Amino acid sequence: MEKILTGIRSTGTPHLGNILGVIIPSINIANKNKKDSSFIFIADLHSMIQINNIKTIKNNIYQIAAAWLAFGLNTENCFFYRQSDISEVTELAWYFSCFYPYQRLTLAHSFKNEIQKKNKEKISLGLFSYPILMAADILLYNAKIIPVGKDQLQHIEIARRIANSFNKKIGTKLFSLPNAFLQKKTMSVPGIDGEKMSKSKNNLINIFSSDEILKKQIMSIRTDNKSLKEKKNTETDYIMSLYKLIATSDKIVKMKEKYKKGGYGYNDAKIALYELIISKFAIERKKFFSFIKKESLLDHILFLGAKKAKKIASERLNKIRKYLKLNPLI
Ligand code: ADP
Ligand code: TRP
Repeated sequence: MEKILTGIRSTGTPHLGNILGVIIPSINIANKNKKDSSFIFIADLHSMIQINNIKTIKNNIYQIAAAWLAFGLNTENCFFYRQSDISEVTELAWYFSCFYPYQRLTLAHSFKNEIQKKNKEKISLGLFSYPILMAADILLYNAKIIPVGKDQLQHIEIARRIANSFNKKIGTKLFSLPNAFLQKKTMSVPGIDGEKMSKSKNNLINIFSSDEILKKQIMSIRTDNKSLKEKKNTETDYIMSLYKLIATSDKIVKMKEKYKKGGYGYNDAKIALYELIISKFAIERKKFFSFIKKESLLDHILFLGAKKAKKIASERLNKIRKYLKLNPLI
């Protein structure tokens, strides 16, 4: 099996989009993969671009770590670490930034989106070079399979270009070309407003919140204004879209029948979705609430992962340094 790698920024508690799009598919591969061939990390350096309060980042790191563990990531079989613990990655990002044309980065969505929203003065160099650090995350370990949501496709493409041009420059295939790993159904999970669910939008379903908050989020899913009696559209409704991602096929068929028949209100459908989420993720929620209280255990697990990953990272970086005619790391 090829090496797999993925990261989630420590910008908040993982939401249903992160979970269905990345956490579950990654764990399905990582737990079955050959030992030490999977890299799962918390992208705390990337999150610094967005969050000024260092304490918030630290707290978010625990949220992300607890979510991976709650879903059953086998940390013995993989590298599970904080990005910031492996300083080799920032050094590699520097080399890449010396080779990659500035003009191409101005075309990255992460930069283009911000420039539309913010004054140029407020855009940091870190945001501009975001895809470079992401390429370093991947290429440092020569990872091939990168589970991500659809919004990250362009970043993976940039990592491929960097690998390719670096290989050409040094005349050897030092870097493998990574591939995004996406699943059609879950590559862009919709939020309660039908737009892509995202921490930066107010449209989350957060299964790791209290029953009350979770219910409130689900009850706020936007619908059209059809009355209880009317027949409803199973293709365009957002409650149904989410239900289809989680329920078994016979449950989906039954729900569709109710929609088509009429006499079934959106409120009923929301309650059904809420109850499904509560029962489907009961174990994971319980585990999350237990892990989140054990910060020193989470620190310890991430420390062990970083220690293992650091060894591989420094060996790889020494190899890269050699091609650049630099001394080995001291
Ligand atoms: P967010 O976009 O909410 O800030 P992140 O940027 O931290 O979340 O995303 C972490 C990973 O989860 C990325 O690979 C991203 O593509 C994926 N992801 C984020 N939102 C969704 C979604 N709604 N559906 C599927 N995958 C998603
Ligand atoms: N950019 C990703 C996001 O916004 C996080 C990330 C950082 C990542 N480095 C990565 C994902 C490497 C996959 C591989 O969510």
